[in-house]
Amino acid sequence: MKRILITGAGGLLGKELSGHLKSQFEVIQLTHQDIEIADPESIHAQLETHRPDIVINCAAILNINFCEQNPAKCYAVNRDGIKNILEALIELKKPTIVVQISTSEVFGGTFQNCKVEGYKENDDRQPISAYQKAKKEAEDLIQEIASAHPETFLKWFIVRTGWLYGRGRQTFVDRFINDLKEKNELSVIQDQWRSPTWTHDFAEGLNNLLGGNYASGIFHLVNEVNAGEATTLDVLKLIANHLKIPMEKFRLTFVNQDKFFKVPRAPSNVLLNTKLPKLPHWRVSLQKYLEKYYSL
Ligand SMILES: NC(=O)c1ccc[n+]([C@@H]2O[C@H](COP(=O)([O-])OP(=O)(O)OC[C@H]3O[C@@H](n4cnc5c(N)ncnc54)[C@H](OP(=O)(O)O)[C@@H]3O)[C@@H](O)[C@H]2O)c1
Repeated sequence: MKRILITGAGGLLGKELSGHLKSQFEVIQLTHQDIEIADPESIHAQLETHRPDIVINCAAILNINFCEQNPAKCYAVNRDGIKNILEALIELKKPTIVVQISTSEVFGGTFQNCKVEGYKENDDRQPISAYQKAKKEAEDLIQEIASAHPETFLKWFIVRTGWLYGRGRQTFVDRFINDLKEKNELSVIQDQWRSPTWTHDFAEGLNNLLGGNYASGIFHLVNEVNAGEATTLDVLKLIANHLKIPMEKFRLTFVNQDKFFKVPRAPSNVLLNTKLPKLPHWRVSLQKYLEKYYSL
């Protein structure tokens, strides 16, 4: 059985992947307590102990405000973390497949030039914030370093995803459920389109990628959306419908995202998956998730 080492295994995606991949792989789950990806020595010690066949880097700092205010810390983790992992593997001379989890946020951009319909794998990236730049530079580093060391890196995959929800921690789904149950007025962002993605579906897709005959490269793993979806209002409506809460009960105020977030966010977080078998449509998956975990 091949051995997978997962960093960030205490987080939303890391937890899901750790559970999901256990049927096919021996999984080493490393939480932040077990490994510090900004510290080459910590990484080296863990990789030397476990000598994995595959490394999936889910460790990251996601708090975009924190990243903007602490760029050195953001770059040390979100950019240099994968570099430290790659350098440790080169030193260990252990042939490995590496997976860097990345984000739709690398496309950044402004409202004027954003692609509401979504971005393909090789579209130009336009990061603006520290979080976006660090994740973009991490993508560049893995391509550069892994391609230069084919003897160590059997394959490398950059797997971008969108607006994740799942059981690993509280997400926008819990927040929206709470708002719908507790409030009469809702502030709704009107200039943002996303790819809401169930971590369970992502994990299935990643399992297929690892088991398939794919060449190294960039992949998009997201639930499908139609052009012009999925806005905050689309998601709220679907959840309200499931909870049988009439949307007419709410006084809606439409705001632009710059009123909501202190740091620029990508207006379009929609990713187009043109290389892998498609994951289910976001509406189908979110409905399934709500029925499974939030039945009335
Ligand atoms: N969540 C989303 O909507 C989303 C969307 C697109 C892409 N992604 C990408 O998906 C990946 C996983 O995201 P997630 O939602 O699972 O994030 P998460 O729930 O915040 O989990 C990230 C984990 O990384 C750990 N971590 C942070 N700094 C670390 C460090 N220096 N060394 C080792 N571990 C560290 C955190 O531990 P502590 O909390 O204890 O520090 C946390 O358990 C990230 O690469 C992210 O960019 C996420």
